[in-house]
Amino acid sequence: MLGLDVNKDRTWISQRLNNVLSLNSMVAARIRELALKTEGVIKLTSGEPNFQTPNHIVDAAKRALDEGDIFYTPTSGIPEFRRAIAEKVAREHGVEVDSDNNILATPGAIEGIFLAIMGAVNPGDEVLIPDPCYVVYPSCIQFAGGSPIPIPLSADDDFRLNPVELEQRITPSSRMIVLNSPSNPTGMIITDHDLKAIAEIAEKHDLLVLTDEAYEKIVYDGVKHKSILSISGMKERTILIGSFSKTYAMTGWRIGYLVGPETLVPALKKIQSVIVLCTNGIVQKAAVAALAGPQNCVTEMVDEYDRRRRFIVQRLNDIAGFSCPTPKGAFYVFPDVTELKVGSLKLAEFLLRKAKVAVYPGIAYGQPGEHNIRLSYAASLSDIKTALDRIETALEHNTLD
Ligand SMILES: Cc1ncc(COP(=O)(O)O)c(C=O)c1O
Repeated sequence: MLGLDVNKDRTWISQRLNNVLSLNSMVAARIRELALKTEGVIKLTSGEPNFQTPNHIVDAAKRALDEGDIFYTPTSGIPEFRRAIAEKVAREHGVEVDSDNNILATPGAIEGIFLAIMGAVNPGDEVLIPDPCYVVYPSCIQFAGGSPIPIPLSADDDFRLNPVELEQRITPSSRMIVLNSPSNPTGMIITDHDLKAIAEIAEKHDLLVLTDEAYEKIVYDGVKHKSILSISGMKERTILIGSFSKTYAMTGWRIGYLVGPETLVPALKKIQSVIVLCTNGIVQKAAVAALAGPQNCVTEMVDEYDRRRRFIVQRLNDIAGFSCPTPKGAFYVFPDVTELKVGSLKLAEFLLRKAKVAVYPGIAYGQPGEHNIRLSYAASLSDIKTALDRIETALEHNTLD
């Protein structure tokens, strides 16, 4: 109309957004899309507990609503939420933090990860990430104009984040190391010994550490979760990301937190205030009740995950072509399928079509995952049993190419 030469390839997408290579989310989206079209599918894709939020937490939210607690809250979070987090950090990690300057309430761990990376990473900075890893890290780093530097993990080494491999990739542009223990997608944990070595590397090279501890309470075989924050000297360079989603079955509530140095955290409010302004106050009250209330609800859920974990590992190892290490935490298994001689996306598509079971291809989490698939056992044991029977039958009766 205005005589403009409208190019049909023209896009309104910013360069910044274009720079975010979302191969991972595209692969995952493809599986979700196929799963939607597949009738009777059993989904072992989901990263959310199949439990209800415990009643005392729900009651606290109802109470807050009944009391008319429906207003904007402080950008950093309500004081009682921040105090509860400070007490938790002191109790569990032996570190004194200031509830005014070291803590932010966030609508889920994801937003905390985004705030931390946007607030601390400069364009051109390099951020060391485990590979495979949770898909949010590389995307956030790219949003910030930084470069994700993958540290390849191998099944042969129990998907260990080897401190030597880590240090080899440090350059003058390195800014931050991302840790995630227990890990999504591998279910592995970082040992105390390796944590100490990583802390020494961070100090030696003056790097920040972002530690995503969303699965801190979902650990097995007597493993005790340890945070790098608890290591002497690390408080000044560690950003701890916490979540209520997995521990208390609260994924849809959107509540998490960030604990970090006071040389960074207050400034992050600038970002928070233009994205969401504040975290939902009703949900913060519920989260305070979660921390203050009985913790046997957590133990019961973890015991149930443990039963499923034992079953799924054994059952997968009985299926020809699968080799499944036993995860130490979270609720995922990441079996190796090299023997099936097919790429992970092809295998995931095959399992959807022929077995009606949805899993994520390992490639969605990084190149070293090309010979793995991720199965979530945050599903009922009976669904898991049926899914594995179907997988076995589909592989027995069909060819894979
Ligand atoms: C490693 C990891 N961190 C964070 C999250 C997201 O947590 P939240 O629901 O608190 O945003 C997930 C969810 O799958 C996750 O796997």
